[in-house]
Amino acid sequence: MPSIFPSGLYSIVLTAFLALFPTIAHSVTLESDSAVLSLLKRSIDPNTIPISSFLDTWNLSADPCESTSQFLGILCTYPEDESRQRIVAIDLDSFGYDGVLTQSIGNLTELTTLNLGRNKFRGPIPDSISGLRKLTTLSMSGNFLSGSIPRGITMLKKLESVDLSYNTLSGSIPAKLSGLRRLIHLRLSHNELSGRIPDLTASWQLDTLELDNNQLYGNLPNFPASLRTLSLSHNTLSGHITPIGKLKNLKLLDLSNNRLTGSIRQQILKLSQVFHINVSMNLFTGIEVAKFVANLVTVSNLTSVNLARNDFTGPIPREYGVKVVNSWKSLFLDHNFLTGDLPQEFSNASIRMKGSLANNCLRCPTNVTLCLGGQRSTSECVGLNDGSE
Ligand SMILES: *[C@@H]1O[C@H](CO)[C@@H](O)[C@H](O)[C@H]1NC(C)=O
Ligand SMILES: *[C@@H]1O[C@H](CO)[C@@H](O)[C@H](O)[C@H]1NC(C)=O
Ligand SMILES: *[C@@H]1O[C@H](CO)[C@@H](O)[C@H](O)[C@H]1NC(C)=O
Ligand SMILES: *[C@@H]1O[C@H](CO)[C@@H](O)[C@H](O)[C@H]1NC(C)=O
Ligand SMILES: *[C@@H]1O[C@H](CO)[C@@H](O)[C@H](O)[C@H]1NC(C)=O
Ligand SMILES: *[C@@H]1O[C@H](CO)[C@@H](O)[C@H](O)[C@H]1NC(C)=O
Repeated sequence: MPSIFPSGLYSIVLTAFLALFPTIAHSVTLESDSAVLSLLKRSIDPNTIPISSFLDTWNLSADPCESTSQFLGILCTYPEDESRQRIVAIDLDSFGYDGVLTQSIGNLTELTTLNLGRNKFRGPIPDSISGLRKLTTLSMSGNFLSGSIPRGITMLKKLESVDLSYNTLSGSIPAKLSGLRRLIHLRLSHNELSGRIPDLTASWQLDTLELDNNQLYGNLPNFPASLRTLSLSHNTLSGHITPIGKLKNLKLLDLSNNRLTGSIRQQILKLSQVFHINVSMNLFTGIEVAKFVANLVTVSNLTSVNLARNDFTGPIPREYGVKVVNSWKSLFLDHNFLTGDLPQEFSNASIRMKGSLANNCLRCPTNVTLCLGGQRSTSECVGLNDGSE
């Protein structure tokens, strides 16, 4: 049917009509946003989309933002400068959706949240995510994503939370991540990342840094002083732990199972907010003994201490006895070369603490639970100062 309006006028009239009656319009979502959702759903094995899961509610012939009872797991907004609605959040449930991520995801340029966690997404993270300039939350943890972390992620300056943990990502951590000034949580644990930890001090609001269970190596860099949780266990990090001493806000420190060496300096053991410290399975040789009184025992909120499987020598400081009675709930000192008698309080039958003193060179009474497992053989303990002088 030939139109009685010139086409330009027709579109003005139609726009006015849509503005007046948005609910009866055929499509009010930007077509390309709708198209991306279709592509996303079509790239997932339909056998892994159970009935009444979020993705099952995505009716590809309906409008994503307008249909009221469908498209669970997405949020839309009305941008000021456009008449079309845009997708601002994709927050999928975790039913084990099995698929790959399409490049077109980068076209959802209004997206602020992308959460695809705990599914079975495979293959690389598309480079096109560098187009999601408004993204604040990116979570793809617990999938089978592989390849490297796209360098373009460093262009997403609004990112506050990045969780790519529990995948099989490899390659190094992009050095320019530090340019993300708003970053608060960075979780990259349980991948196959290698290389050094970049200097993240410019991410001055960083609260949580979890890089454990990767293949990271080299010395510890400086970290932002804002850190409250630092988890670097199960890597092959080496050198001294001096940079940790500046982290005055730290509450949880897990450096276990690395190749860190040297002595644990006084300032590290004075971190006043720490409640959990785990430096087990390293090559530490000592704690600055002369300053021991000011160490660990002065940290009022500390409840869990793990110094196991290092090369610590010397006696257990007497001050630990008071802590064992009053505040510490867990103390692992096993597999070191500690010598001498236990602080008196350790033998109090009413102490029911988690931990172990096994495999040292201590005089450890067998009726003390912490001593279960026995001590090293005399030949392993030869020449160690037993601290009794
Ligand atoms: C995404 O954007 C690219 C480049 O503008 C375009 O070629 C492509 O067709 C878009 N994809 C979709 C699904 O709209
Ligand atoms: C999908 O949406 C179309 C268009 O709104 C509608 O006709 C159809 O009934 C819907 N299908 C389902 C399964 O809800
Ligand atoms: C400390 O680290 C070791 C080795 O990574 C781990 O086995 C242990 O569960 C951790 N936690 C505590 C409380 O010691
Ligand atoms: C110990 O923890 C409490 C409660 O979280 C906190 O208010 C207090 O400041 C902490 N103490 C120190 C010395 O940091
Ligand atoms: C043993 O512990 C109990 C309860 O904490 C305390 O009252 C008692 O004085 C302790 N005894 C010794 C010898 O420390
Ligand atoms: C272990 O035995 C010693 C000496 O007999 C005793 O003083 C101490 O209270 C006992 N400790 C425990 C935990 O039973």
